[in-house]
Amino acid sequence: MEVGGIQALRAWRKRQSGTVSLVPTMGALHSGHRALMDRARESGDSVVTSIFVNPLQFGADEDFGRYPRPFQADLEICEAAGVDFVFAPALGEMYPAAPEVTVSSGRMGTVYEGAARPGHFDGVLTVVAKLFTLAAPDSAIFGLKDIQQFCLVKRMIADLNFDIELIGLPVVRDGDGLAMSSRNEYLATADRAVALAIPRALDVAAQAASDGSPVGVEAAAQAVLDAAAERGDLSLGYLGLVDSTTFQPCAQDFAGQALLLVSVTVGGTHLIDNVPLEFH
Ligand code: PAJ
Repeated sequence: MEVGGIQALRAWRKRQSGTVSLVPTMGALHSGHRALMDRARESGDSVVTSIFVNPLQFGADEDFGRYPRPFQADLEICEAAGVDFVFAPALGEMYPAAPEVTVSSGRMGTVYEGAARPGHFDGVLTVVAKLFTLAAPDSAIFGLKDIQQFCLVKRMIADLNFDIELIGLPVVRDGDGLAMSSRNEYLATADRAVALAIPRALDVAAQAASDGSPVGVEAAAQAVLDAAAERGDLSLGYLGLVDSTTFQPCAQDFAGQALLLVSVTVGGTHLIDNVPLEFH
């Protein structure tokens, strides 16, 4: 396994004769990331994983400074997953100066998570575009845990004509149902118990959706989250039932593929999750 910055990646890429699969990450790798790497191994002849905490996608009052960076442990996970190249550029190499030209995420980048974190998705798409250019992959693997990010990357690939196959993998959860996230490390034991209201709310919503109608689905999840907010240190950011292609709220007679999106803050930690729901 090779580890390097921009120059080393470009040189390595030129030497590849087969297909390349890319897994972009910010490190603090867990089983969710590992699942993406395993899928990349199946998809490409060689695998690049990037580890870069991208300042452009963090707000001024967010956790860029304290985001976990266990680099050696991350390298071991990459090695065990059979990654061929770990792209770990220095900050000044990716952004020698604040970029003047960036990618705009449009309307879909300003709703839900984009409304909660202004500028976040422009920062994500800008770094993903740079990673696509640098690694020139044939396929890229993303998790559906960050579903709005996934949908925006899909639009960027289409709108900017990247010749890359986008592959999305379902949310990987811990045994207790909480979606794996590098930010779960911030949660104290008591916070974690409170956070379990998220998968509970999504489960209740999925049950409410089993009759094929969106009526009452959001309310069912809302009730679980409201009860948790009353009991513990949880505050609801947003809850939204949206059309999965447009991110517009579903009408009561919506038919097709929808997403229930949720964000909460537990003990100061921002957590997101979602569940896909089909209506007819
Ligand atoms: P990061 O949060 O490190 O996530 C990297 C990839 O892992 C993303 O595609 C994310 O959706 C996926 N992932 C994280 N937790 C997951 C889980 N529990 N189940 C399935 N997939 C999971 O997302 C980012 O980094 C950044 O925004 C990035 C795309 C690297 C750009 O900086």
